[in-house]
Amino acid sequence: MTKEEKAGAAAFLDLAGDYLSGGFRRERGKYAFKDDREGDPREYAVSRGSGPGNNRFTGDEETAPDGRVENGDSLEAVAAEVSRCKRCGLCTTRTNTVPGEGVSRPLVMVIGEGPGADEDSSGRPFVGRAGQLLDRMLDSRGKIGLSRGNNCHIANIVKCRPPGNRNPQPDETAACVPFLVRQIKLLRPKIILAAGNTAAKTLLDSSQGITRLRGTWTRFQGTFLMDGSFDIPLIPTFHPSALLRDESLKAPVWEDLKLLREKLCELDGDYAARMAETPL
Ligand code: URA
Repeated sequence: MTKEEKAGAAAFLDLAGDYLSGGFRRERGKYAFKDDREGDPREYAVSRGSGPGNNRFTGDEETAPDGRVENGDSLEAVAAEVSRCKRCGLCTTRTNTVPGEGVSRPLVMVIGEGPGADEDSSGRPFVGRAGQLLDRMLDSRGKIGLSRGNNCHIANIVKCRPPGNRNPQPDETAACVPFLVRQIKLLRPKIILAAGNTAAKTLLDSSQGITRLRGTWTRFQGTFLMDGSFDIPLIPTFHPSALLRDESLKAPVWEDLKLLREKLCELDGDYAARMAETPL
């Protein structure tokens, strides 16, 4: 059985149990299912151990210098599969796939929504106006000190452009998220920065919007995957394209970036030393 099939069966059994015990909906802990099935191991790779909690990683574990994990997956393999992917209708309208880019052991993984026109034509994430603003936000004149060239990795929830820049639809997100999950497992970022509504809601499996979610630390635990492999601090903030439309969002984004800096200083000594020389 796949983990999705197990999750479906568990949800049904929970519902049946609630019904039999008088219809009262009980709170339950999280399940951590894994796939049983054979197939491409990279597709359903879990990085460590087995069983709920045993394979949790926090970003502190040792990894091979090329970013590979023990199951033989790699960022290159993910990108190659993405380039051939036909799992959803976005493959019929894309020019290029946009797997993501940046360093292979990032302090921060920035996750956006999906490629726009510039990204679709170049095959690179966040290279249009919003991307240029994102680069400026991440550096913030050295006060945040992050960049895709040095210490970040940038990717999206979906790897192909939704036509007309519409939001990705649930079937498109569901088809594409397994690629993102593999990337997160390979990259093991210390922190995830979720840029915008789609990224925050998808990664946190939340129905709340970005205005409610932003500026608060939470942890990416793969809840929606029912996987249990993850435990990475995550902070949502507004998408840079929202800032291009509404300048008043710059102030809350700056607050979020300062929280990011503070947390990174706690988690990474080299970063903390660098930031000690760059007062806010
Ligand atoms: N917006 C996104 O969410 N991602 C990109 O790569 C570009 C624009």
